[in-house]
Order: sequence, then structure tokens, then C-alpha cells
Amino acid sequence: MTALTLSTSSAATVRADAVVVGVAKGAKGVVVAPGAEAVDKAFGGKLAAVLETLGASGAEGEVTKLPAADGLKAPVVLAVGLGDAPAKGDGYDNEALRRAAGSAARALSGTKKAGFALPVEDAEAAAAVSEGALLGAYAFTTYRSNGNGKNAKSAPLGEATILGGKPRDKEFKAAAERSVALAEEINRARDLINTPSNDLDPKSFAAHAQAAAKEFGLKVEVLDEKALKKGGYGGLMGVGQGSETPPRLVRIAHTHPKADRTLALVGKGITYDSGGISLKPAGHNETMKCDMSGAAAVFAAVVAAARLGLQVNVTGWLALAENMPSGSATRPGDVLTMYSGKTVEVLNTDAEGRLVLADALTRASEETPDAIVDVATLTGAMVLALGHRHFGIMSNDDAFRTSIHEIAEEVGEQSWPMPMPVHLRKGMDSPVADIANMGERMGGGLVAGLFLKEFVGEGITWAHLDIAGPAFHEGAPWGYTPKGGTGSAVRTLVRLAERTAAGDLG
Ligand code: BES
Ligand code: MN
Ligand code: ZN
Repeated sequence: MTALTLSTSSAATVRADAVVVGVAKGAKGVVVAPGAEAVDKAFGGKLAAVLETLGASGAEGEVTKLPAADGLKAPVVLAVGLGDAPAKGDGYDNEALRRAAGSAARALSGTKKAGFALPVEDAEAAAAVSEGALLGAYAFTTYRSNGNGKNAKSAPLGEATILGGKPRDKEFKAAAERSVALAEEINRARDLINTPSNDLDPKSFAAHAQAAAKEFGLKVEVLDEKALKKGGYGGLMGVGQGSETPPRLVRIAHTHPKADRTLALVGKGITYDSGGISLKPAGHNETMKCDMSGAAAVFAAVVAAARLGLQVNVTGWLALAENMPSGSATRPGDVLTMYSGKTVEVLNTDAEGRLVLADALTRASEETPDAIVDVATLTGAMVLALGHRHFGIMSNDDAFRTSIHEIAEEVGEQSWPMPMPVHLRKGMDSPVADIANMGERMGGGLVAGLFLKEFVGEGITWAHLDIAGPAFHEGAPWGYTPKGGTGSAVRTLVRLAERTAAGDLG
């Protein structure tokens, strides 16, 4: 990954291949953001005018490269748009900084070193710039050969050095270190999501968890198909039984000797979702390697909690299976006996996520954590409702749902609270079993949430994040969001763990 440093150099003296400055849209045209003073001076105080002449407007994500003026060590200046300039007296929003740093870092791929002279008033802002740069520089090149042309491997930005960030200040140092651990873990989740299903199956995913646990000192346990069968994990077994690669349930735990709270995170880890016997049509299955994004987010968040030494226990549950059609696959109409003992009539084998999550939720509940949060690419209906940038939040506790929404906002992730309308439960009544895995089509995301709720232990605070929209990005890269796996929900989960550690929640 791109290296990160904090430097006391000014934008004029930094030894780098390029220096990044921020520009915004002011009432009377382009304004240069704080941090760029030395660069502006080198341009005779006319940087904004020069940029305007070059066609810049300060719009979010806009990148303008220009040769440096005399007096600057770096040969190139990259001006990146921050969007609308803040009102007088207000600072730049951290998410605007994160996105701008991401756009700049992406535009600098192939470059060895860049200085970021963006406005960093406090440690949080410096962390946002650092996160944006490290996330924006991400590239998934594992499967690229080194040839020429459009598909050639190009090296990401080698080093991002944050200017104006007080490297000797404890707070700035800690924020920068946190941002590195966080970005590395988000990029770990992205790598897993982007890895095609022929190279990532339940078994190899579990091996990744074991390797990371060893590296960072976490406790890990893997239930294989024998243990799952013996333990009565009917949901995981039912979904995985059509595949050549059997299911796994991974428990990966960060513990802290002084922790007085435990957070359980449960991730949907369908390494490929073909739909099973209720096969998805072409056009709906090309990106289904991403159906383990919830498990990837949970995995990354638990490892981040360990790397940051958070004073809270965080237990991750990865519900891993491959959903395939075959002679041994679950049929529509089959009844599964779940780990909880409840029976489920599988009306549609493509509603598999809720089956593997149900078992993991019941198992996680046995340890009576203070809260459970599950993360899943669960329903197309949530994508229809909220689009590709927001994840939906459902919960059995309105205050907890609100907290998660606020935390997401704070870390720059977009989300929206969704209701749990109990009248939708009767749509899942089954003539043969305790519940069916499908209900009314309308409000399908809410139906899925209601199904999950039935498998959460009595009295346990729980929330469900449906990340089907933001988990995988098919459009052009923007800000720090690349094509493919995004690492959606990792920042929210890590901040939730930090809040839980601080005793700010419940
Ligand atoms: N993995 C899909 C949901 C999904 C859709 C994720 C689009 C990412 C992008 C899930 O397993 C699924 O197939 N859900 C069905 C449920 C239905 C059969 C009740 C859906 O949403 O259509
Ligand atoms: Mn499915
Ligand atoms: Zn799925």
C-alpha cells in the first residue's frame, strides 16, 4: 500500500514529484483553500486566476495539473476540487477533504511521492486527508499482467506526505497511525471482495482469517462442514450443500483485558451467489463474487480493532458459503432446521443470505454480547430503495439505529434508517414450517430484516446493515471510491467499536 508520512515541510519546500492543493467554488469563482499559501505565493498570488484560465471551477473531484512556478521544489502542482467553499468562519468538511485527497491520489498513480497541502486544521482533518489518499490510491492489480496498454499494471502512488499536520503533536501522530491501520484494513476488505470466486471460497476465506489472526494476535476458530453438520447449523449447511466447496463459520475475536463490553459483528459471506436452484438470470450474476462483502467488512473491522488495541471485546462471525445449483443443492420447498431449532421453508434458494446469517446470529447470541451488528449484501430491494451509495439500517432498538446512522455520518459513510414493520411478518408464514425465507415482494429489504430479527437472542440489542447498494461499485471511480469492492461499513464498524470502548453507547 501507499506509504504515509507527516511532514513539517511547507508546500514550497517539500521534496516530492507533485504537491496537491485544494481549490473550492466560491461566490466569485475559484478560491484557493488554506494550506496552499506557499504555492499561491510562487504563482505571484494568482493561483486561483491561473486555475480559472485553465478551466478549473473548484467542483468536487475536479483535478487540474500544472507545472510548478519558480520557488517550489515539487515540479508539478495538482489542484483538486473540494466543492462549494464553506461559509466564512467554517472549516472544510472532513468528507470533502477525504474525497479530494482520494481523487488526487488516484490521479497521481504511477508517481513516487506527493505532498498533500490541503487544509488540515486539526488531527481529524489530517486523518481524513490521509484516509482519502490511502483509499484513493488503491488499485486491484493481482490479475493484471505487466503488458502495455489500457489494462497494464500501473503502480499506485508510492508515498503520500501530509503537510501542515504537526508530526510531533501526539494527537496528529495518533490520528495518522489510526488512519493507516484503518485504510489498510479497508483495502484488505476490498482485495477479498475483488478476488474472483475461483480463488476465494469459504475454505480459503477462512484461511485468510487464520493468517491475519496469527499476524495480529487474535483468537480464531473455524467450524468446518463436519462441525457445522454435527452442530445442527441447518442454514449454513443448506445454503452450502450444492457447492463443491463446503461452508465454514469463522469466529475471530479481539479481546482486551480491561474491556467491560463486547460487540459482536456478523457478516454475510457468500463467496458466490448464483441464486442456487432459483438461479439468477444472466445480467444479475456477474458481480456476485461481491456477496461476501459483509463478512469482509466484519473481518477487516475486527482486525482493525485489534491493531488499534481498542478497550472493548469485538467478536466477528463470518458466515461463509457458496450458493450453487447442483444435484445436492437445496430445492425450493425444502425445509431446513436451523441452529436455533426453528424450521425454515426455503421458497427461494436465492434468499440465502438470511439463512446463513440466521445461524450466525443465533450462535453469536449465545455469548450474550452487549450488541450485535450484522452486515450483509442482503437484498436487491434495498438497492432499489436507497441506490448505490447508502446502506440501510434496521434495528430492534430505535436509539441504537440512530446512533449507527450518526456514527456513519461522522466517518463519511452514507446510510439511512429503515423501519421494521411487523405486519410484513405474516407474509413469511409457511404452511409447513415455522417461517418461510421469503415474504411480500414489496418492501423486500424490510422483510429480510424481519426474518433476521427472529434469530437474534431475546433482549439483545441488534442492528442490521444492508450494504447491497454501496458494497460494490460498478461505475467510474470517484473520490476515494474505486471500481469494485469499496469496503463499505468498515469505518462505521470501527468507530462503533471505539464508541463502545469509550462507553458512549448503551
Ligand atoms: N445477494 C443478493 C442481493 C444482492 C442484490 C446483493 C444485488 C448485491 C446486489 C441476495 O442473496 C438475493 O439474491 N436476494 C434476493 C432475495 C429475494 C429472492 C427474496 C433479491 O434481493 O432479489
Ligand atoms: Mn441470493
Ligand atoms: Zn446473496
